[in-house]
Amino acid sequence: MSYNLLKGKKGIIFGALDEKSIAWKTALRCREEGAQLVLSNAPVALRMGEINKLAELVQAPVIGADVVNMDDLKKLFEESTKHFDGRIDFILHSIGMSLNVRKGKHYTQIDYGFNQKTLDISAISLHRVLRTAWDMDAINEWGSVVALTYIAAQRVFPDYNEMADAKSLLESVARSFGYHYGVKKKVRVNTVSQSPTRTTAGSGVKGFDGFISYAEKMSPLGNATAEDCAGYCVTLFSDLTKYVTMQNLFHDGGFSFTGVTQAVIEQMEK
Ligand SMILES: NC(=O)c1ccc[n+]([C@@H]2O[C@H](COP(=O)([O-])OP(=O)(O)OC[C@H]3O[C@@H](n4cnc5c(N)ncnc54)[C@H](O)[C@@H]3O)[C@@H](O)[C@H]2O)c1
Repeated sequence: MSYNLLKGKKGIIFGALDEKSIAWKTALRCREEGAQLVLSNAPVALRMGEINKLAELVQAPVIGADVVNMDDLKKLFEESTKHFDGRIDFILHSIGMSLNVRKGKHYTQIDYGFNQKTLDISAISLHRVLRTAWDMDAINEWGSVVALTYIAAQRVFPDYNEMADAKSLLESVARSFGYHYGVKKKVRVNTVSQSPTRTTAGSGVKGFDGFISYAEKMSPLGNATAEDCAGYCVTLFSDLTKYVTMQNLFHDGGFSFTGVTQAVIEQMEK
């Protein structure tokens, strides 16, 4: 069901890799709610070609950008504002990548070169995106920027490895830039902390199956799906949440504030 919440709004969606991606579902939902879109992903992801299917479904151009390359970002914003014939109203940052997880390095033994790349791609990239938009004055007043995060930023999940540090930094960038962008142009910046979700990035975490079923049992409402995350992002892009900024918002079925559930107690008593 569509509520036309994003009628007339224009947005850039980063990070749709395949149809499991949270960004993919968010693009579909934004389109359903009346938005015009530009899709972006790293050149290496574009070579997979899957994103072209989404582009057709949401009638959006695909503009490649490695999110750690400032020239790529500048080009993306230039081409997007040209395509929209005006400024942008919302941005979804749905990007994560851990080189140490990929290479199977334990947290206590990380390679610091990989670590810098992880932090740059997964966290500082939000600063890079906001900085590019800021320098080009590319976002409309009351615009909204959302980045996706995970509760490992607040609590230890041992196998989440260096991504926990990346997510803490990402949430901090959202707060800090959110302050400045709010003062300058009433642009709001938030992070959404999503339940574990079966996607390419999610499944990269060691022991993901155990992880996701534990979270399911520990959440009074159960794990939030990617489709529901998309719906939540739509509300944050809409004018109904104009005074929400600099927040880390949990979209996790209640997991973050639950000490224990009956389901977990029963499991432990088995
Ligand atoms: N899946 C989960 O369990 C879960 C839970 C909470 C938060 N998140 C977060 O949601 C976001 C989206 O992840 P997802 O689960 O949909 O997985 P995904 O693998 O579908 O998306 C990750 C995206 O990051 C992109 N990316 C990686 N390096 C890039 C670069 N240099 N430049 C531009 N793009 C780059 C990838 O191409 C991919 O599209 C991530 O920030 C992730 O950490 C995921």
